Amino acid sequence: MTTFPIDADRLRAEAVAILRENDLGGYTIPTRGLYPFQWNWDSCLVALGLAHVDEDRALGEIETLVAHQWPDGMIPHIVFHADHETYFPGPDVWGTARATPTSGITQPPVLGYALRRLLDTARDRTMVAPRVAALLPKVAAWHRWFATARDPHRTGLVAILHPWESGRDNAIDWDEALARVPTEGVGSYVRRDTTHVDAAQRPTKAEYDRYLWLVQRFRSLAWDQATLHDASPFRVVDPGFNAILIRSAEDLAALAQALDAPELAAEAQAQAARGRTALEGLWHDGLGQYAAFDRAAGTLVESASIGGLLPLLALEPGHPRAQALVARLAALRGAVRHPVPSHDPADPRFDRLRYWRGPLWLIANRLVADGLARHGRADAAGEIARDGLALVAKSGFGEYFDPLDGRALGGKRFSWTAAMVLEFLETNRA
Ligand code: DGY
Repeated sequence: MTTFPIDADRLRAEAVAILRENDLGGYTIPTRGLYPFQWNWDSCLVALGLAHVDEDRALGEIETLVAHQWPDGMIPHIVFHADHETYFPGPDVWGTARATPTSGITQPPVLGYALRRLLDTARDRTMVAPRVAALLPKVAAWHRWFATARDPHRTGLVAILHPWESGRDNAIDWDEALARVPTEGVGSYVRRDTTHVDAAQRPTKAEYDRYLWLVQRFRSLAWDQATLHDASPFRVVDPGFNAILIRSAEDLAALAQALDAPELAAEAQAQAARGRTALEGLWHDGLGQYAAFDRAAGTLVESASIGGLLPLLALEPGHPRAQALVARLAALRGAVRHPVPSHDPADPRFDRLRYWRGPLWLIANRLVADGLARHGRADAAGEIARDGLALVAKSGFGEYFDPLDGRALGGKRFSWTAAMVLEFLETNRA
């Protein structure tokens, strides 16, 4: 529980200042130096924060991202709007041959979810509604791409083909699948991330070698998304990623219904229903939560991460598993001073400092809080919001935080942390 006094006006002013300084004109970088381009899910979540300040700019953030959708429907995980020496791997490594270079993989599809929130909370609906309506076919095309390119054998769940697609790059969930990725032929390279951030807070070299091997493999297949799934040694079904996709499909259906696109609504609803049914196959009795499925090995992964709690976002209210997830969350919140850790601290592999292997992330907390509210736990959602605000008030706008002592980690003056502060200030007020 939060006892720290929160100066809401100061937090709001600082959050807005950070979003302004990271605005490179039509798109927002996550932070200077470490991430100098437009990232997919960063931008969609940043739009939620921008919406509290400037709805036109919030929509612009998303429109800029979606303008770089591939012809097959994929929305890439990075858009390299301009050259920057401070990041590796840059456009030359990806070699995707797009007019404006992009990466060749994707990221958690929070787009549909974000658009629904933008419309639901719109102050200027006359401006917002037609712009959201114009984006709906593009969201639907992306979701269709997932259902084919990332679920070619029609299981109802999509695989990520690269840990970077999950957004939780070095989660313990991927360890075994990633260990099977070879490193032969990767060659030498110079990382840039560890010049900006302490190496102890970043993925390891062993992980980076494999991240790069996968990029090189996909590039050798000319980024033909129809062939990548079966050609990749890394194919993992992440419950968090799938929950986000299911929720975005549900939100797309609601938007399409409200904005007079009944066919899109029916298609999205059917996709969400298929996903929900298939998600049950990821339940792990021993962990008491959902778990990743290693599609290449055919096994559920023994890893109690926050990814397995995100199905709260997607389960129908009243679903029997939801209460189990609420209980898991309560236990995790009791286990650390600053919830929610991205991995269960009781697991010996937990690492309080290293990126997605333990630290808490405000965006994950925002998604979890939304899931709790969906399942009738507005009280717990409110506590997570207040804890997050108190933490940023104390430690600053870090990329992520040590869940044991609350110190800020990773990049500084981070856009999505600022955006989530604006979100939490708003939901807390409401
Ligand atoms: C990075 O470079 O750390 C990113 O997470 C890749 O998207």
